[in-house]
Amino acid sequence: MTQSKQEVSRRYDLFPTPVVTWEHEVPDLNAALKQALVDDPFYRSADQAQKSDSINLCDLAGTVPAFKQLETLALADLTEYCRQIGWIGEFDVEMQMFANVSAARHYVPSHNHVAHIASVYYVATTPTDRPVLEAQSAMKNYWQPAEGALILHDPRFNASLMGGWQHHAHVHPRPGLMIMFPAFVWHEVVPHFQPEPRLSIAVNFTLTYRNIDQAQKRTRLTVDPA
Ligand SMILES: [Fe+2]
Repeated sequence: MTQSKQEVSRRYDLFPTPVVTWEHEVPDLNAALKQALVDDPFYRSADQAQKSDSINLCDLAGTVPAFKQLETLALADLTEYCRQIGWIGEFDVEMQMFANVSAARHYVPSHNHVAHIASVYYVATTPTDRPVLEAQSAMKNYWQPAEGALILHDPRFNASLMGGWQHHAHVHPRPGLMIMFPAFVWHEVVPHFQPEPRLSIAVNFTLTYRNIDQAQKRTRLTVDPA
């Protein structure tokens, strides 16, 4: 009797997509952020959603303490995120922080961000009893998502339209939740139907290592119409 040769099989989970969440218990901060946003007439204007990311709330941190507190919180979470993904060292960070004030039925189509790391901090959200993140969300949730969910799409669908589009995760936000993920991840926001606006603040981070000489030259380019 001959014995079959043992086959060697190994699994490598290459190129993961690290998503990290924090559930901060900061009701005072949320109340102050809500006040700062609802008191600002800009966020009551009809076209505020399309103009919102032209205002960097970091620029207002000197006059609005809540924005300064959120900036500090976001940088602390970014430090932890970088540690977890192995980005160790000294960095220069470009930071863009902008508000999303969403009335009922408003939704955000699928998109990604021009940055390294994208994050969202939730100030006011639809009440939910679902877990913060459903990593392997059921197929029915693709077509019947929960009110106010953030959907993260599997980025591998970009590589092949033959499959993979159905892989997605659902985030069910609550006040105080911070989520960070690679900025290349396509994501979208499902409408809510609450009387009060949903409030969140997006933060984009672009990091440059300080201890590596940059060979690039930054210059200015103007392209006139033909
Ligand atoms: Fe986004």
